[in-house]
Amino acid sequence: MGGLIACAILSGRVLGPIAALPGLIVQWAHARAALDSLEKVFALQGDNHAVALPLTPEHIHGEWRIENLKFAYPGRPRPLTLPLTLIRPGEKVAILGPIGAGKSTLLKLMAGLFAPGEGQVLLDGLDIQQIDRAHLSARLGYLPQDVKLLAGTLRDNLTLGLGGVDEAALLDASRRIGLDQLIASHPQGLDMPIFEGGNGVSGGQKQLIALTRLLLSTPAAWLLDEPTAAMDEATEQRSLAVLRQAIAPEQTLILVTHKPVLLGLVDRFIVLLPGGGVIDGPKATVLERLRQSAAQARTSQDMHSGKPEETP
Ligand SMILES: Nc1ncnc2c1ncn2[C@@H]1O[C@H](COP(=O)(O)OP(=O)(O)OP(=O)(O)O)[C@@H](O)[C@H]1O
Ligand SMILES: [Mg+2]
Repeated sequence: MGGLIACAILSGRVLGPIAALPGLIVQWAHARAALDSLEKVFALQGDNHAVALPLTPEHIHGEWRIENLKFAYPGRPRPLTLPLTLIRPGEKVAILGPIGAGKSTLLKLMAGLFAPGEGQVLLDGLDIQQIDRAHLSARLGYLPQDVKLLAGTLRDNLTLGLGGVDEAALLDASRRIGLDQLIASHPQGLDMPIFEGGNGVSGGQKQLIALTRLLLSTPAAWLLDEPTAAMDEATEQRSLAVLRQAIAPEQTLILVTHKPVLLGLVDRFIVLLPGGGVIDGPKATVLERLRQSAAQARTSQDMHSGKPEETP
């Protein structure tokens, strides 16, 4: 009996680790997958990639010089190309063109968010890729076309990355832009919850939140990508008036828009043409050139269709 009991105990001891093996194998697979994902994150290029000592210029004057720019998304054959382009401090420029022409891409390159494949984007004479990313983000007022908010409260999203914004300034900026209606309509006011990506607020409200944050950040230069695309007419007019007041004459504005009402903010157009060309010049000159080429296109169309030339 004693021998049998000893056998049962000993065999249990011997087989125990073997029985634990399947569980260990599953744990090992999970640990391996987690390590692989971490390695992928660490292998990604960081900001200021390959720049040993990023620059932190004290002032941003807002002079852009784009030299023979070429940029293509991976797997996309047609690159965005731009010849030598100079934007002087204080200039108010609109980047125009049909959908998919590359306007947002150009603005991201000018904000230093993308590195050009060929050529250079210089800000105040410095390669924008060499300027410290956090330093640049704090000084350039870049408003993306697709505003993304973070999970947290409305207050968190309005003051994200901005130090020392007091409640009075926050409420004043919200009132000027018209965000106070959203704040007043929620029982938690500025502490209303916002979910990841901006779920929980409308597209127009997301743009108002992003614009309010931009006003609070008091940028040195403005890069606005369709700032009022999701707004109704009254809200757009209000935002336009606030922008007109906020953008100082000495500050550079680069505006991407499809909305004619916003073009009053600018004096110069850079038009990205569908074929890859660019028309750049004062507003009136570019409008005249566009009118002429539209008239020429109409005439040649009429000739091909056999209609008389004077057909409107
Ligand atoms: N992340 C991306 N990856 C691959 N291709 C992209 C990406 N983003 C944009 N593209 C492509 O690059 C081209 C230019 O896109 P971009 O967003 O700059 O156009 P856009 O002029 O701003 O258009 P819209 O007026 O519609 O905003 C488009 O053909 C688009 O399909
Ligand atoms: Mg765009």
